Amino acid sequence: MLAKTASLLVAASVVAIPSLATTTPTIQTISKDVVIVGGGAAGAYAAVRVREDYGKSIALIERESHLGGAVDTWTDPKTGVPYELGVEAFLDYGNATKFFSRFNVSVHVSEQESVNTQYADFSTGHWVNYTVPTAAERLAAFQKYAKLAEQYEDMMLPGLWDFPTADKIPEDLLLNFGDFARKYGIEAAVPTIWDVAAVGLGNLETQPTFYVMQSFPAPLARVYTGKGRTLYVASHRNQDIYDRVSDLLGDDVFYSNVVVRALRTSNGVSVIAKGTDGRQTEIHAKRLLIAIPPTVSNLAPFNLDKKELNILSKTTYTRAYAGGVVSSNLPSNTTIINSALSGNWLNFPDLSFLQWYKALNSPAHYHKVMMFGNETVDSDGSRGLVEQSYQQLVNAGTLLKEGGEGLEWLHFADHGAVNVRACLKDLKAGFIQELYSLQGHLSTWYTGAAWSAQLHTPTWAFSDSVIPRLVEGL
Ligand SMILES: Cc1cc2nc3c(=O)[nH]c(=O)nc-3n(C[C@H](O)[C@H](O)[C@H](O)COP(=O)(O)OP(=O)(O)OC[C@H]3O[C@@H](n4cnc5c(N)ncnc54)[C@H](O)[C@@H]3O)c2cc1C
Ligand SMILES: *[C@@H]1O[C@H](CO)[C@@H](O)[C@H](O)[C@H]1NC(C)=O
Ligand SMILES: *[C@@H]1O[C@H](CO)[C@@H](O)[C@H](O)[C@H]1NC(C)=O
Ligand SMILES: *[C@@H]1O[C@H](CO)[C@@H](O)[C@H](O)[C@H]1NC(C)=O
Ligand SMILES: *[C@@H]1O[C@H](CO)[C@@H](O)[C@H](O)[C@H]1NC(C)=O
Ligand SMILES: *[C@@H]1O[C@H](CO)[C@@H](O)[C@H](O)[C@H]1NC(C)=O
Repeated sequence: MLAKTASLLVAASVVAIPSLATTTPTIQTISKDVVIVGGGAAGAYAAVRVREDYGKSIALIERESHLGGAVDTWTDPKTGVPYELGVEAFLDYGNATKFFSRFNVSVHVSEQESVNTQYADFSTGHWVNYTVPTAAERLAAFQKYAKLAEQYEDMMLPGLWDFPTADKIPEDLLLNFGDFARKYGIEAAVPTIWDVAAVGLGNLETQPTFYVMQSFPAPLARVYTGKGRTLYVASHRNQDIYDRVSDLLGDDVFYSNVVVRALRTSNGVSVIAKGTDGRQTEIHAKRLLIAIPPTVSNLAPFNLDKKELNILSKTTYTRAYAGGVVSSNLPSNTTIINSALSGNWLNFPDLSFLQWYKALNSPAHYHKVMMFGNETVDSDGSRGLVEQSYQQLVNAGTLLKEGGEGLEWLHFADHGAVNVRACLKDLKAGFIQELYSLQGHLSTWYTGAAWSAQLHTPTWAFSDSVIPRLVEGL
């Protein structure tokens, strides 16, 4: 990790901004063309392309000890079998297949799942008398939804560079999604839209259609009309792609590091990264690429200016957590989905909630859990949602008490902020243009889900669209 220092110190004067090292004990200073913060989907992808395809030197700062962000392959220590407790599947979008093949990671398009699905209201613990849309109803609804979403595809993907200004935003995108769904008679698609990708918005009925479509864009809708594809990693280890990215990037990644201070000007940046081991590194770079969710608290170390604070303070976000649990009382091969008691296709629980106990293809009652909370729900709070929901189901007699033991955690992960969004009023007033006006401001560029779609491979494609702008003039 600490290699290359000698040669890079020579170039350290390229960026003519004052050193931050005066007040902090810095053990090394390096200089790069681009410093990237966040080695999740968008950041790790960008790191590969900026260095390998554009020939620019990089440093990538990642908080965790591995790359991949929401990818969370957990290996059962008892059996050695891997389970995907984060990202499961990759939409075939943009250059995704090329990126997998570049790293010799085989992907295929179908994955058989054989589980039963049941519906319960986790706030009361009772089964919900839920009538699932028939396959024909769902297909018809997705055909309509895909057509509607395709009207806006070019202005929304891979990013919002060409999104219409305030008064030109299509009215439909500003409708509450419940009204939109009723207007076009697409109710039968909504349970899938929520379950697969828009769950982080909570109760979809009252969300602006724009944000639902950002979570469930046209290319994903086409998967449900038979015109699009989802990719699965053949090894059943999604982490494989990022482990190979990791091997390639080598010492250019600073793992278990976060930025603690930064100085940014229109001529370049200087950031101080600090590792969990206490080591500090001062990185001078001509450009900064921020690939973590752009919330005010995440960006606090970057010393946001008035313009940045003014724009980013308009956002709210959802906190996402996930993990695995086991209990002999959770029926094997049965997924229990949290549903509103009404059984209505447009009703979903309000934030904060547990989405489901999703059966993992395991012989041992393993279930995946995914929790979505408002800004106040921390790790303990999200675990609490899983434990309380379980208790409710047991107390209501919905889960038959088969074994004496309760619920045990196998694995838990904090996935940080998702669905970074502004309110309808700000959206109508031109928030998207304001947000995008930050691209390039103070040598700082941005990538990630908040700028494109809440899906893995569209954020890769968004990085493809940022990089030429980012490296211009380097
Ligand atoms: C549980 C879960 C399951 C998902 N499943 C799917 C799926 O099956 N298919 C799909 O298409 N999409 C899925 N998504 C959505 C998709 O994975 C995300 O939208 C995508 O990862 C977003 O990419 P990103 O680069 O914006 O953020 P991330 O991939 O989350 O990357 C952010 C990175 O920044 C790091 N980081 C955060 N803060 C700091 C800091 N201060 N300093 C340094 N590093 C920091 C994080 O550790 C992380 O590596 C899922 C999301 C979640 C949360
Ligand atoms: C990614 O796709 C775009 C077009 O969608 C293309 O212009 C670009 O060259 C591709 N990049 C790579 C690395 O293949
Ligand atoms: C992928 O395989 C090719 C051919 O076997 C090899 O040349 C290349 O180095 C491999 N790349 C990676 C990233 O493993
Ligand atoms: C469940 O819903 C169906 C269809 O709406 C209805 O016919 C049935 O009586 C309901 N059952 C119960 C137990 O409420
Ligand atoms: C956030 O979620 C918690 C837990 O569900 C809830 O108690 C609280 O009222 C919510 N706060 C807001 C502002 O919605
Ligand atoms: C669950 O399903 C998997 C695959 O279909 C099977 O191997 C396993 O035995 C099943 N478990 C139980 C308890 O039925």
